[in-house]
Amino acid sequence: MRKKLIAGNWKMNGSKSFNEGWVKSIHAALAAMGPSQNAEIMVCVPTPYLSQMAGLLENTPVALGAQDVSAHAKGAYTGEVSLGMLLDVGVQGVIIGHSERRAYHGESDSVVAQKVKACMSSSITPIVCLGETQEQRQSGQTNDVIQSQLSAVMDALEQDFERLVVAYEPVWAIGTGLTATPEQAQEVHAFIRGLLATKTRHAQDLKILYGGSMNAQNASSLLSLPDVDGGLIGGASLLAEDFAKIITSANAECN
Ligand code: 13P
Repeated sequence: MRKKLIAGNWKMNGSKSFNEGWVKSIHAALAAMGPSQNAEIMVCVPTPYLSQMAGLLENTPVALGAQDVSAHAKGAYTGEVSLGMLLDVGVQGVIIGHSERRAYHGESDSVVAQKVKACMSSSITPIVCLGETQEQRQSGQTNDVIQSQLSAVMDALEQDFERLVVAYEPVWAIGTGLTATPEQAQEVHAFIRGLLATKTRHAQDLKILYGGSMNAQNASSLLSLPDVDGGLIGGASLLAEDFAKIITSANAECN
């Protein structure tokens, strides 16, 4: 059975003192939940705080994630951060191809695919983001967009799908307060799993997360869907109390 993964994406938020307070609150909330927690937890923080967070999260069940990585191993790539550097500071997962990086930093499907492929030769879990814009959904292109974004990754990986995590993040639902309905989410997640199944026999083992205005109130209805294996959470992950409630909802689904 697939375990749920609740991953926070802090985006460009946080500070040394905020981070300390957040970890303290999550630590207390997790302790109050007791020992029988099944959901996996990760928090993806801005690069300058990775080392600090690695220290703060030691001896907690919360894994450390980054928000991007270079496709290159090292060299003259000013501003880039390599997988080796992420590993060196204790990172276990990385978000790749978030729609904000695709839209504001020109990341193409092929760059995203190269980054995911690079992760496969390390122990870092890639969380690759896919999703359609409002216009694309309204003009009936959702499946085509998802298919072309995912095909680029699957073609680059060939058979090597181990540890791949996919996040369906409809662009129109990110930071807008609009959430995909459970029907919309399940339909796209099942479509994604079907696409994965065309390339790997392990599609049933791979996690597909939902992201886009997931919060403490709507988490249960999304996490109970058969093909929703967790959440990639932006705004609500900054509020430790809300993030903890989402983890509780995921634990309830795992039991
Ligand atoms: P929000 O949860 O703030 O809508 O952000 C979702 C997201 O982009 C997570 O990667």
